[in-house]
Amino acid sequence: MMRIDIATLFPDVCQAYMNESILGRAARKGLIETHCHQIRDYTLNKQKQVDDYPYGGGCGMVMNAQPIYDCCRAIIRQNWLYGRPRPHIVFMTAAGARYDEGHARRLATYDNLLLVCGHYEGMDERVIQEIGDEEISIGDYVLTGGELAALVVADSVLRLQPGVLAEPQGYQEESHWNGLLEYPQYTRPEVWQGRAVPPVLLTGHHANIEKWRAQQSLERTRTRRPDLYAAWQAKNNKT
Ligand code: ADE
Repeated sequence: MMRIDIATLFPDVCQAYMNESILGRAARKGLIETHCHQIRDYTLNKQKQVDDYPYGGGCGMVMNAQPIYDCCRAIIRQNWLYGRPRPHIVFMTAAGARYDEGHARRLATYDNLLLVCGHYEGMDERVIQEIGDEEISIGDYVLTGGELAALVVADSVLRLQPGVLAEPQGYQEESHWNGLLEYPQYTRPEVWQGRAVPPVLLTGHHANIEKWRAQQSLERTRTRRPDLYAAWQAKNNKT
């Protein structure tokens, strides 16, 4: 059973999110475990300050290495006390490798993950070098902190764990599973605001429905994501 720990300055926000909906239900069923930890609890100064001015100047503040490091060490120890292996440690930074479903599937194979969130202008590089196993960015934009990124990673990894999704096949049909975007979906009513559901979906003819969905999937990917389409074509040797 997978356990994810998040080290952050906003543990309540992160934990509250993971306690809701599908992840919350999975945790209550004992299918996954999530724990959020306050980095500030590991400061050694009486002001509980976690950041300082950057060497070399520049604007903003940089998070100190020590509280992050000590927080991670405590989490590693806590995992060990429960007979768990040392977590695979991922730092959330805008300078990391860009995250995709491939990363999610790889991270989903670890028993324990520790996601570390920076805030302010960044973290002292040395703590990343000292205990980080990898650095991940969730996209080419800058967030005020790593919390949303950590939740994106936790959510996309935990939903792949056995039993978390109601339908085991749930994720195999979705966007990005086979390198393509998902086909459009419809539910009741049959006509809404004058818009009818594509007739083929009402026929009950499974082969035709499959074919229509495959076409839609390909066409959407070609027009919306030419980059994914080119990669899919190259992989499937089609022109
Ligand atoms: N922290 C700030 N921006 C980020 C991003 N794009 N991905 C991950 N962590 C971040």
